[in-house]
Amino acid sequence: MSQIVRPYEPGDRDSLIALEAELFGSDAWSPEVFTLELQHPFSHYLVLEDGPAVVGYGGVRVPVPAAPGDIQTLAIYPDYRRAGWARRILNELVGYATAKGVPELLLEVRADNPAAHALYESVGFREIARRPNYYQPDGVDAIVMRLTLTTPEGDGQ
Ligand SMILES: CC(C)(COP(=O)(O)OP(=O)(O)OC[C@H]1O[C@@H](n2cnc3c(N)ncnc32)[C@H](O)[C@@H]1OP(=O)(O)O)[C@@H](O)C(=O)NCCC(=O)NCCS
Repeated sequence: MSQIVRPYEPGDRDSLIALEAELFGSDAWSPEVFTLELQHPFSHYLVLEDGPAVVGYGGVRVPVPAAPGDIQTLAIYPDYRRAGWARRILNELVGYATAKGVPELLLEVRADNPAAHALYESVGFREIARRPNYYQPDGVDAIVMRLTLTTPEGDGQ
């Protein structure tokens, strides 16, 4: 009830790095890679905050208006799951990309992550390809998903 979704601020960085390691395990970005990701000029990140604690986050990369954007990551601390927070963050990231004139969003999800797959399907992403053995060392396939966006003018493709 006191949780809010708000834009990422530089002071959130250490919390996100700690959450990333805890929630993604062997797939987690290193602190160095995540720091570069958060500082990247094309990145847009949102955090879920509960009081002083950051308990979730999600980010999108929007390079230039005519090129596809990428949902980079999305994670919610277990105590806060199944309450709609990931869908809320995802919808806000989609709205941000749409406002920037991005024609479509892409993402990769592990084939053994049915929760994330269902989440992305629930907001309209559809599978377009598989990358065999993409996630190492587990040898798990990546499912590539795409969401076609509608521009604010309604002439999206
Ligand atoms: C995947 C994850 C982000 C979902 O977060 P969440 O806040 O619990 O998701 P939401 O409550 O917004 O759920 C939205 C929809 O996603 C689907 N979903 C979410 N968790 C699910 C689960 N455990 N099983 C099946 N479907 C699930 C459902 O369709 C759900 O809608 P519903 O609750 O109306 O049925 C969260 O489980 C997580 O952080 N997992 C670890 C990190 C991760 O895998 N991130 C994705 C990387 S690609």
